[in-house]
Amino acid sequence: MKKIAIIGAGNIGGVLAYLASVRGLGDIVLVDINEGTAKAKALDICQSSSIYGFKCRIFGTSNFSAIRNADIVIISAGVPRTPEIESREKLFDTNKKIIQDVSEKIKEHAPDSFVIVITNPLDAMTYLCLKTTRFPKNKVVGMGGILDTGRFKAIIAKKLHMEYDDVNTIVIGGHDELMIPVVSNTTIKGKKLSFYFDEKEIQEAIYLTKKRGAEIVNLLGTSAFFAPASGAINIAESYLKDEKRIMPCSVLLEGEYSQNNICIGVPVKIGKTGVEEIIELKLTGKEKEEFQKSSEKINLMIGKL
Ligand code: APR
Repeated sequence: MKKIAIIGAGNIGGVLAYLASVRGLGDIVLVDINEGTAKAKALDICQSSSIYGFKCRIFGTSNFSAIRNADIVIISAGVPRTPEIESREKLFDTNKKIIQDVSEKIKEHAPDSFVIVITNPLDAMTYLCLKTTRFPKNKVVGMGGILDTGRFKAIIAKKLHMEYDDVNTIVIGGHDELMIPVVSNTTIKGKKLSFYFDEKEIQEAIYLTKKRGAEIVNLLGTSAFFAPASGAINIAESYLKDEKRIMPCSVLLEGEYSQNNICIGVPVKIGKTGVEEIIELKLTGKEKEEFQKSSEKINLMIGKL
């Protein structure tokens, strides 16, 4: 039986634990500095298992030694955005300390695990986790691009009254306002996006994709949790079942996309050894420039770590 450790049993952690339980991905341990939260969510999920029909394989604790021998650790510990903290970058100072602390504990108790980071600002936190754990670069990824891609895909499909599966697209770059929905790599039923959308509609879809997260923050007072958790579960499943799915994740680049020593979102293949391949898309000149700008912004944050 595989073991999944989830650090941070808040909004995202709770959905992660529920989805992993329903999908039967393995034994789950939910860890939070607030032990009551971790225990309560584990109990609630267990109680739902007899009703919804899955096996209860979860417990909650504040004790990090419980993550021992985990195959996967998903980090959703840290403060989320609020209407007052409107940009993910403003979470930097607080979440930096949390990720450092959590990463040290992962290194101590689950040195062979594959780590998925969800905490924002995503790319800098992924880099910090990689450097603190000193894990090999194929064993630490950040989940941001899957969420952004899902949002872009949904906006296009809805406007065209089509199914999500009809839309083939990807969003790369930083998980922030400088993300790059790759229009040149977007096809709908085999045709280019420009076949369906004029330039104004394309720009509007990109704008809406960038603002989707903030829209939820303003309505809810805190950030999204169903979609981010779903993205991380996709990565976890591909790793655990060696599915070799290709999806955008924040990973360490060493020369790819002309970048060095930076974690940023690019398409990768996830299989049983973690990141098995970094895929280099053929970008247009404008997309390359945007990727460079996005990298520079992340580099500034990395410089402050
Ligand atoms: N160790 C373990 N758990 C911690 C730690 C720590 N050092 N610090 C904080 N936590 C826990 C909190 O107790 C809380 O239960 O992390 C949880 C965070 O939950 P929420 O506040 O509900 O935040 P959530 O919406 O789940 O977002 C978590 O993911 O997408 C990002 O921007 C988001 O950075 C935020 C993170």
